[in-house]
Amino acid sequence: MKRTLLSALLQGTLLTAGLSSSLAAQTPFVNTLMPVPAHLTAATGSLPWNDAITVGLPRFRDSRLDAAIVRTLQQMEGKTGVHRPPSLGNDPSAKLVIDVEGPGETIQTIDEDEAYTLLITPAGAKLHAATTVGAMRGLTTLTQLVQNDGTGFFLPAVQIDDTPRFRWRGLMIDTGRHFEPIDVIKRNLDAMAAVKLNVFHWHLTEDQGFRIESKLYPGLTAKGSDGLYYTQDQAREIVAYAHARGIRVVPEFEMPGHSVAWLVAYPKLASGSIPTGIRREFGVSNYALDPTREETYQFIQRFLTEMTGLFPDAYYHIGGDETPAPDWKTNPRILAFKKQHNLKDNDALQAYFNTRVLAILTGLHKHMVGWDEIFTPGLPTDAVIQSWRGAKSLVSAAKQGYQGILSQPWYLDGMQSAERHYLADPIPAGSDLTPEQSKRILGGETPMWGEQLNQLSIDSRIWPRTAAIAERFWSPADVRDVDDMYRRLDVESIRLEALGLTHLTHQDAALRELAGTENIDALRVFASVLQPVSFGERYKGQHTDQLTPLDNLVDAVRPDPPSRHRIEVLVRNLLASPANQQAKAELDSAFKSWLSAVPVVEEQMQHSPLLNVAHPRAQQLGDLAQTGEEALSYLGGSTKAPAGWKQGALAQIEEARKNQALLRFTFLDPLEQLIKAAQE
Ligand code: ACM
Repeated sequence: MKRTLLSALLQGTLLTAGLSSSLAAQTPFVNTLMPVPAHLTAATGSLPWNDAITVGLPRFRDSRLDAAIVRTLQQMEGKTGVHRPPSLGNDPSAKLVIDVEGPGETIQTIDEDEAYTLLITPAGAKLHAATTVGAMRGLTTLTQLVQNDGTGFFLPAVQIDDTPRFRWRGLMIDTGRHFEPIDVIKRNLDAMAAVKLNVFHWHLTEDQGFRIESKLYPGLTAKGSDGLYYTQDQAREIVAYAHARGIRVVPEFEMPGHSVAWLVAYPKLASGSIPTGIRREFGVSNYALDPTREETYQFIQRFLTEMTGLFPDAYYHIGGDETPAPDWKTNPRILAFKKQHNLKDNDALQAYFNTRVLAILTGLHKHMVGWDEIFTPGLPTDAVIQSWRGAKSLVSAAKQGYQGILSQPWYLDGMQSAERHYLADPIPAGSDLTPEQSKRILGGETPMWGEQLNQLSIDSRIWPRTAAIAERFWSPADVRDVDDMYRRLDVESIRLEALGLTHLTHQDAALRELAGTENIDALRVFASVLQPVSFGERYKGQHTDQLTPLDNLVDAVRPDPPSRHRIEVLVRNLLASPANQQAKAELDSAFKSWLSAVPVVEEQMQHSPLLNVAHPRAQQLGDLAQTGEEALSYLGGSTKAPAGWKQGALAQIEEARKNQALLRFTFLDPLEQLIKAAQE
């Protein structure tokens, strides 16, 4: 009976407002929130999201809050097709009341109050926050709550009381190796806000490019950027765009290493060797600023003072990593300086440099952040340590009184799974920090290095994995259910696409370009089980420099596509209960789809040299799919595998694990388990 009513409703024959909302009232809440809030209680009932929604701000409002609400309502309009209310009023009995106490900090700091509460009942929704930034976090949650019952949209009745676990939740984008246009930066800021990240760490200078305009030192971009840089107006635009979304912008100016782009224009800053041009090669370079000349510090002082006009944040990043600086061991003037100042080695000289730069920044009312190489004896404890070489430096630094940020587990260019990133924690497992020392760990940051990126592929390298990382930074430490994370990540990925992110569309566009046709159905199946090798493996396997075109199949496919976790779960379920017909049928269907895609892919490869590089992968996929089919038939059934089958199948897996065409299969671990479980 119920079923008949439902199908009648779905066909529209019985559709009335009353029936539709009573049906909504029974629809259970499906939690797709990401990050998961600190406290959530689901109640019964729901608030229909329809033309009756009105918005009231009875207490505080300003232009930043208004703009955030309008953006939210536009997003809701896009999701639901329900017109947004024509105006925002101050009615305390509006259907959606946004009760904010005040604007929060003029310049957002690590102490900004981001907490909010959200109460939704069938009668209305109320969002309360102390600050506009807190309200923005709650508005994001609101957009993630909307559900539908097949006939209309609603917000489920819930009570949410939410606040972040960490104060520093960052994404770093390297715009030095490859320049990223401001539209790319803006859409990534939108995505960051959608998952409640609050620090955009903007890596602005590199051996390969100086990307920020200096009016005092115009040579920096004139000679060090290939004309690809952010004007000061654009930088201000990005800072304002981020501020409007409750995101701080921490600029990074690399010194004394990774500084070729400075030296190209201002060779006087060099320690001895002078580069002849922008460095196209990646990796660690030998060029470094000269830490022994007062002119170097005058230059840095003037440059950083100029930058304070663009970047209001209280934290400035000076890089500080990877500075072998052989000139510091051979230049007689530098050797004399080291002797005179009793600096026993290069590390001591760099510590001297860091202390001088820290004094400059302190004079500008800025805190200094640096990669963990700056953590050397004598460094003032005002410096913040960003750990990229392991969590050890973070823990030691916290014990010695330094604040720190962990990055090492979240290198996106490692092409690791979202699962692996998700399970890492800013407070390293097993660390013996006191509560006070733990508090010095401000949070985490995920770095997106730019060697192997361009403006087309960047989103797919950052998203959706970074949404899982954002949850680690925001949600309680015990939110660690990987299957549930992936369930919600699939939904978040689509929400991010609706915001304008291209992490999903990029693959199809790239496949169409590679194949030269719109007919990419088979290629999509092939690509769906491939992922890029890690940065390091690609670096070894293909000599890329800044000018290498990034237009191969490896640039099209994305890290940790849904197939990886899906196949893993299916195999896990099947092996846990071999009678699980559904898991078996789904695996069978996956293997069959691979088998039928392969001949089409192989045919298309013959007309595309860039695709054809991966021809061995296509052949392997066919063989592995066949092996998968056989494994299924030998699993718990009456047929046993012939002698030697297992050995052959496992050898096939080992062969397929090798780097070929800079690509890896996503399913080899579970397929190996399936083979091992087959009866021989
Ligand atoms: C770094 O990855 N060199 C900070």
